[in-house]
Amino acid sequence: MRKPLVAGNWKMNGTRASLNEIVEMGKAYSLALRGKVDMLIAPPSTLLYTASAVALGTGIAIGAQDCHAGAAGAHTGDLAASQLFDVGASAVIVGHSERRADHGETDTQVKAKAEAVIAQGMVAIICVGETKAQREAGKALAVVGKQVKGSIPAGVSADQVVIAYEPVWAIGTGLTPTLADIAEVHADIRKTIARLLGKETAAKMRILYGGSVKPNNAKDILGLADVDGALVGGASLKASDFMGIVEAA
Ligand code: PGA
Repeated sequence: MRKPLVAGNWKMNGTRASLNEIVEMGKAYSLALRGKVDMLIAPPSTLLYTASAVALGTGIAIGAQDCHAGAAGAHTGDLAASQLFDVGASAVIVGHSERRADHGETDTQVKAKAEAVIAQGMVAIICVGETKAQREAGKALAVVGKQVKGSIPAGVSADQVVIAYEPVWAIGTGLTPTLADIAEVHADIRKTIARLLGKETAAKMRILYGGSVKPNNAKDILGLADVDGALVGGASLKASDFMGIVEAA
């Protein structure tokens, strides 16, 4: 019922030469695959416009990695949702743990950014996840539940928001939670969404797993009942790695 989404987050990586990876991904993203799994690449903002042009006709959606919550104005260095939409983005990642850590972003700010993204007619990919210390203290579900409650705008529909569960300690480390732990958190997130937005919306909303997803572990992780795709960092930079994950989905 929920079509999986495999989204690549290039973070602060990539120059124009990297656009060739999107060309290669486009060639490999067959019509058969397109019918079964959605695919998105979030390059750095410098490449959004050209990436959108390169992706045209391939079925690959292009997304941004962050945005400002405001509409326009005196915010040096920031980008508004409308500007991202203007250069071809159809989704924006908000609340990535690197933004929460490097820029002190709070749930309230993440929610405001998600609202700006949705108001622009784009999809907000809202990231949540516990730190290692929080997991070890047995607080993963509580922490993630609080982030979900605090970061999802009120009254949204299932096609306006994607949740990405990314344990902070699994990002870029090669470590992943056990399949049972991933399943537990995803099921709990869906319960929280049901309480916030109703059962029907919760049943339709996609919940991605992120954190050291690679071609060799994707099949097991994506095979879990409440895992509706992946948010991929390192393994999204090379077409061959990324397509391995798309194939697994
Ligand atoms: P990773 O990053 O796949 O390199 O662990 C995931 C993410 O931060 O989205």
